[in-house]
Amino acid sequence: MDKELVIVLDFGGQYNQLIARRVRECSVYCEVHPYTLSLEKIKEMNPKGIIFTGGPESVYDMKSPHCDKEILELGIPVLGICYGAQLMVYLLGGKVETAPVSEYGKTEVAIDTNSVLFHNVSEKTIAWMSHTDYIAKPPAEFKICASTDVCPAAAIEYNEKKLYATQFHPEVIHTQEGMKMLSNFVYDVCGCKGNWKMSSFVDEIVKSIREKVGDGKVLCALSGGVDSSVAAVLLSKAVGKQLTCVFVDQGLLRKNEGDEVEAVFGPEGPYDLNFIRVNCQERFYRKLRGVTEPEKKRKIIGEEFIRVFEEEAKKIGTVDYLVQGTIYPDVIESGLGKSAVIKSHHNVGGLPDYVDFKDIIEPLRMLFKDEVRKVGIELGIPEYLVFRQPFPGPGLGIRIIGEVTAEKCFIVQEADAIYREEIANAGLDKKLGQYFAALTNMQSVGVMGDYRTYDYAIALRAVTTSDFMTAEPAQIPWEVLEKVASRIVNEVKGVNRVLYDCTGKPPATIEFE
Ligand code: XMP
Repeated sequence: MDKELVIVLDFGGQYNQLIARRVRECSVYCEVHPYTLSLEKIKEMNPKGIIFTGGPESVYDMKSPHCDKEILELGIPVLGICYGAQLMVYLLGGKVETAPVSEYGKTEVAIDTNSVLFHNVSEKTIAWMSHTDYIAKPPAEFKICASTDVCPAAAIEYNEKKLYATQFHPEVIHTQEGMKMLSNFVYDVCGCKGNWKMSSFVDEIVKSIREKVGDGKVLCALSGGVDSSVAAVLLSKAVGKQLTCVFVDQGLLRKNEGDEVEAVFGPEGPYDLNFIRVNCQERFYRKLRGVTEPEKKRKIIGEEFIRVFEEEAKKIGTVDYLVQGTIYPDVIESGLGKSAVIKSHHNVGGLPDYVDFKDIIEPLRMLFKDEVRKVGIELGIPEYLVFRQPFPGPGLGIRIIGEVTAEKCFIVQEADAIYREEIANAGLDKKLGQYFAALTNMQSVGVMGDYRTYDYAIALRAVTTSDFMTAEPAQIPWEVLEKVASRIVNEVKGVNRVLYDCTGKPPATIEFE
């Protein structure tokens, strides 16, 4: 079968991977490459189409990213988006200027539905705009096919050469008919058939890992979370026992989690790999004794994790490759590097400095979370692992306010297990972004039977969110909360009060520390 590929050339826009992901949603394989990708390489890759992304700069700025004009002369269809549209115009002799006013946000666009790009799109539609410059005059052969109040040339086309440009962002969800526009480009302009499936991705990635690793040894830090689990199974499929997964049970996991991970990845499980579970609960509790400052706790947990992992790696001997379950959102979060550190996420990029290896393998680096889940399903990983809610690297350490002790871990594990069970019983588990119990470290007076108690308060947290950068407190039905509260105070020794956190993010964060 003809392998169809569309490439996205990245000019620094924030939506570059989102464009690739939308193309993959059209069942066409798509990869993002830097705008510096050479003409020769592009020819060699033989893509069915090319998309230029947006970017923050102005094409007239000397330092702004420019690509080879010849890319537009290869006969390969090109769609330029925002900065990419302006660059196409600039390279082909049109005029880009600062718009009389910037447009930002949802904007009404008048569409020429005769354009192949806008086939089946409404004559008036809403699109997402975010620009300062605009196309003041399209190059001679181009025809205008969409406009807004501010942009007379909000989209332009040169059908004969298969060149298209939109000032707005079809890839963003706020562009109501953006998917139609992109699929028109991919199918009708580029002539793709759409025969790519996640299973093809799995086959290809397994093949390429096998080629890369040869008979080398591979090491993976397995947390039991979705990303590291999917990465480990991909590697196990590719190189079997050449892979060793180290699972550190630091005593800060959820109830039974260590055993659950071992059941799937250990010797009794279905996968061909070496599994090492390191039980080092006491070691972590010792290190955390007396420590109350959240960042200090995070640092200790992160550093101790690295120490344990390092020790295990040394036992294995020379390692050729280190596997990391990095996914695309991690790449953006750790790559921007300019924003303030709110919390130090120790598990992104911490290991490479400490383990001696030839190269790193990050098979999921370009995928979004839901795509990783699709790969997981494709690989036959149990659904409860694939659809697991996120669990932070420092684990319960940041869900216990103040000092962490074995006793407090036990309390929060029990309370959390009850909460999760009742959320599932109420059929709410798939509707919530994240939910968990935390130990407030506050003790208060209660009465149990005829006795006064002075015990801990558990806080319940549940949020809905699309990206975990912002979140809303979830409206859990009162009867569910009442049941959870009643079960926790009755079943978990040391707790006499249950509180529900109804704060959004911002101003609160999702975790407590
Ligand atoms: P916050 O608390 O920052 O959490 O609103 C946002 C999301 O990130 C998770 N989180 C972490 N994940 N290592 C992780 O892998 C960490 O150190 C960490 N801290 C927070 C949190 O569970 C939520 O999903």
